[in-house]
Amino acid sequence: MPTTEQAVRDRRTFAIISHPDAGKTTLTEKLLLRGGAIHLAGEVKAKGERRRARSDWMKIEQQRGISVTTSVMTFIRDGITFNLLDTPGHEDFSEDTYRTLTAVDSAVMVIDAAKGIEPQTRKLFEVCRLRDMPIVTFINKLDREARDPFELMDQIAEELALDVAPVAWPIGMGRDFKGCYDLLHDRVLLMGEDRTESVQVDGLDDPKLEELIPAEQLQKLREEAELVREACPKFDVDAFLEGHMTPVYFGSALRNFGVGHLLSGIAEFSPPPRPLPTDKRSVDPTEDKVSGFVFKVQANMDPNHRDRIAFVRMCSGKFKRGMKLKHVRSGKPMAIYNPIMFFAQDREIADEAFPGDIVGVPNHGTLRVGDTLSESEDMRFTGIPDFAPEILRRVRLDDPMKGKHLKKALESLAEEGVTQVFKPELGANWIVGVVGQLQLDVLKTRIEAEYGINVTLEPAPYETARWVSCDDKAKLDSFCGAIRSAMSTDRDGAPVFLARNYWELNHQIQNNPDIRFSKTRERA
Ligand code: G4P
Repeated sequence: MPTTEQAVRDRRTFAIISHPDAGKTTLTEKLLLRGGAIHLAGEVKAKGERRRARSDWMKIEQQRGISVTTSVMTFIRDGITFNLLDTPGHEDFSEDTYRTLTAVDSAVMVIDAAKGIEPQTRKLFEVCRLRDMPIVTFINKLDREARDPFELMDQIAEELALDVAPVAWPIGMGRDFKGCYDLLHDRVLLMGEDRTESVQVDGLDDPKLEELIPAEQLQKLREEAELVREACPKFDVDAFLEGHMTPVYFGSALRNFGVGHLLSGIAEFSPPPRPLPTDKRSVDPTEDKVSGFVFKVQANMDPNHRDRIAFVRMCSGKFKRGMKLKHVRSGKPMAIYNPIMFFAQDREIADEAFPGDIVGVPNHGTLRVGDTLSESEDMRFTGIPDFAPEILRRVRLDDPMKGKHLKKALESLAEEGVTQVFKPELGANWIVGVVGQLQLDVLKTRIEAEYGINVTLEPAPYETARWVSCDDKAKLDSFCGAIRSAMSTDRDGAPVFLARNYWELNHQIQNNPDIRFSKTRERA
């Protein structure tokens, strides 16, 4: 059994960020294949579809052909345990994605070589930057006609204000794509029919290269590699770990080329679990006492298990099955008898877990996003936000007798982070808020499928919402009292101002300089 120190050193917990269609699913599949987690390429999708077919609300995924749920996949290669957290690619689910990014130590940014940086790539990158997260870049689809690699390097550097250090360089592209030259280790990686051939050489002047690469392409490679060495910064691990520099890999996920190189890069350079901030102090992963936080809650992952699963990112200590941890928000101890680990899409009961691992904890609704579990003092991991909803709807019950059921349904879906619910100070109808349209469809389908309640989501007379706070309680009370018809409370009882439009919001902000209007709220 490894010690906590060893386990931490040998763990990499990361996510893939990309714009839809850049190749995240294909890359994930190939990474899992490398890790021996699955035996056939394509199995991620096949299994995914079978799994989806079992659950009603996931029909939405099927109909729209998008992946809504965040999953965790663990695989081991060369003694390194990789925890890959999948993030939904669709922009309506960015809230979920943001929270998932709070649970990883690094990210891989996949870029389509023909398209360069796309809007969703940029948005997700900004989230990573807020946390100074190290990012490895994988330029995908080199087997197709692509943009000039230098142009891509310039675009990443300029648009993301990031130092860009190619650690490989492509040999040809499209139909002439042969492979890459590994600039750090002086190796030629050649794309074969079903495997990559790696040949060690003695630098770019090694005559051996002439046997491996057609003359014209070799000349181009030599010229370009020289230009790279002159024009691009040298890869510096410290700058990467600080989030200022990204190493760039090239490949074709579809052809399974460059994937092993990328994975070795993650093993070699990406950080193991790092100390994480709480409201009290920073928690080091190698501490004896176990701690972790919930970054996602999901219901009905498997209809055979009706409970919900809270996804807990372990932050310190060696977790053992059956262990009692304090649920800090309620102050109550919680024994964790059936923790689940995620090996590819299969679930296994976990006997132990280390910092960086993701453990699924079945529960009946006790655990919420943002909750901390701790074996040591009361503390709360910080930085897991709620986002101000951009779409607000009033929930109308088709059968008014089901008011209590609806309350329960809305509250549990809010705990999962599917939606936010607001109880207006005046009036009886709940208001639900979401960040993207698709979440509304998920919400309605799930209320009907899981709780047997038919609802109509009507337009609400509000355009946006802000959490309001003030250091002076009397001032806050007076503000809330004055505009009572526009006030509501969230599920934790925190006051929320529902604005009819942005003009009204700005008006209130200007007239009430002492009140803070927040677009995000850290989970209580
Ligand atoms: P996503 O998860 O980022 O949305 O992307 P996904 O992997 O689903 O890939 C999007 C499309 O791009 C897929 O084609 C996939 O086969 C293709 N693709 C991914 N990587 C590569 C690559 O390295 N080279 C080439 N040429 N294509 C790649 P599709 O036609 O939309 O889907 P499918 O019918 O092939 O599954």
